[in-house]
Amino acid sequence: MDNMELRTKRLLLRPIHKKDAESVFKYRSDSIANRYQGWIPKTIDEVSDFIDNRVSSTMNLQGTWFQFVIIINESGELAGDIGLHFYDPENRQVELGCTIDKKYQQRGFATEAMTEILNFLFGKLNKHRIIASIDPENISSIKLVEKLVFRREAYFKESLFINGTWTDDLIYAILRKEWREKSRN
Ligand SMILES: CC(C)(COP(=O)(O)OP(=O)(O)OC[C@H]1O[C@@H](n2cnc3c(N)ncnc32)[C@H](O)[C@@H]1OP(=O)(O)O)[C@@H](O)C(=O)NCCC(=O)NCCS
Repeated sequence: MDNMELRTKRLLLRPIHKKDAESVFKYRSDSIANRYQGWIPKTIDEVSDFIDNRVSSTMNLQGTWFQFVIIINESGELAGDIGLHFYDPENRQVELGCTIDKKYQQRGFATEAMTEILNFLFGKLNKHRIIASIDPENISSIKLVEKLVFRREAYFKESLFINGTWTDDLIYAILRKEWREKSRN
C-alpha cells in the first residue's frame, strides 16, 4: 500500500523518494510562486531532511503527512507534489495540499492529480471528509478546490503565523457523499 502508485491519463503519482530532493527543490524554492506556502526550502539538504524526517513512509498514521510526487507520463518529469495529512484517521478525515511547478501550471495537472487522490481517499481508504487550508489571497488554489466541489466552511482571522506574518486561513471541505454525487454527474 505505501509503495503504491496511482495513475491517471497523463500522470503517475508515487510516494516521494530521497532521489527527488533536487527536482522538488527546483520548484519548491520559488518564493514567489509559493508565497502562500508555509515551507519554502533554502537548500536541497532541507528538502532531503523533509523527505527523511517530516514525511511518513506509511499512510494513515495519526498526525503525519504522506507525500506523493506527480510525474508526467510522457516525459518522466517531476511536475509537483501532493501532501496527505492524516490528522484524524480515527474519524476518517484527511487534509490535502498540492504544489505544481510553475512551468507546469495551467495544464490541468493539479485537477487531474487531485481528482485521483480524492477517488483513492474516498473509494479505497473509505475516508469521510477531506479538507484544505488555503490563504484567502491564493486565488488559483481556491479555484482548484472549488472546481473539485469543496465547500468554503470557515474563515479564520490571523490564525496562522507564516513566514513572520499573521495570516488568515480559509478552510474548505468535501464529504464522501458530496464527492460521490459529483462523480455521478
Ligand atoms: C494551486 C495550484 C496547485 C494549481 O495548479 P495547476 O496545475 O495550475 O491547476 P490546473 O491546471 O489543474 O487548473 C488551473 C487552470 O488550468 C486550466 N486547465 C485545465 N486543464 C487544462 C489543460 N488540459 N490545458 C490547459 N489548461 C487547463 C483549468 O481550467 C484551470 O483554469 P482556471 O484557473 O481558470 O479554473 C498551483 O497554482 C500551485 O502550485 N500554486 C502554488 C502552490 C500553492 O499555493 N499551493 C496551494 C497550497 S494548498
